[in-house]
Amino acid sequence: MNVKNKIVVITGGARGIGKQTAEVFKAKDAKVIIADYDEENGEKTASDLNIEFIRVDVSDQNSVKNLFSKIDEKYGQLDVLINNAGTTADGFLVKMDEDAWDKVIDVNLKGVFNCGKEAAKRMMNKGEGVIINTASVVGLYGNVGQTNYAASKFGVIGLTKTWSKELAPKGVRVNAVAPGFVETEMLDSVPDKILDDIRNKTPLKRLGKTEDIANAYLYLASEEASFVNGNVLSVDGGLVL
Ligand code: NAI
Repeated sequence: MNVKNKIVVITGGARGIGKQTAEVFKAKDAKVIIADYDEENGEKTASDLNIEFIRVDVSDQNSVKNLFSKIDEKYGQLDVLINNAGTTADGFLVKMDEDAWDKVIDVNLKGVFNCGKEAAKRMMNKGEGVIINTASVVGLYGNVGQTNYAASKFGVIGLTKTWSKELAPKGVRVNAVAPGFVETEMLDSVPDKILDDIRNKTPLKRLGKTEDIANAYLYLASEEASFVNGNVLSVDGGLVL
């Protein structure tokens, strides 16, 4: 799958799925920039992989504008944006406070809007580009204790479908990946019993690995996926919540 010399920005690239994605794209000779608000892990990942790190808070429009200005200055173009940054603040509906709602919506939904908007302007001017958003199996079926997260990820699918219609005439493809449960630090707060249930409910009888998602991003970003647009690619072992 060809992404050679493409300028690829991966939000949430400091750790987890984003870090793995940076490694996979780097191995395919893309020019990778990871953008994350975790400075310590961001610097470490960038130095380990010999790629660039730029600090950003995706929920803050000024911080996102600053990220894309830096990319303009240094690279003069942008080929692929992977909107991968995400967070959780789980709780039952009746116990979920406003802060937990706002935090998850601000990062997972507004963050995708902020980065997608800046990237789209540049890609439309160039007449080509790829945006990949990160949904979730929870954004397809909902999940107990994840009102905020499910709403954000259903929203991400809505953005993806809309942008794929708006931007395709300008040469920009937009798709989403909907991961199942993937072994990263994001699952640290999920009790083992629930993870066992998920494994059992998954026809392939395992959780996802970061490579599973990174390879799906790679396919959607590549020239080989040039006719794939407006799609939500489930990478979840067949899990239905
Ligand atoms: P993770 O928690 O390991 O990594 C998320 C990264 O996003 C971290 O490096 C964090 O610093 C960064 N981030 C969080 N808020 C940010 C902000 N405001 N600005 C910039 N960066 C920010 O999570 P993981 O598992 O790697 O998840 C990656 C994506 O995949 C997320 O969108 C998540 O919702 C999604 N996903 C993950 C699943 C899983 O089971 N791990 C399942 C389904 C979807």
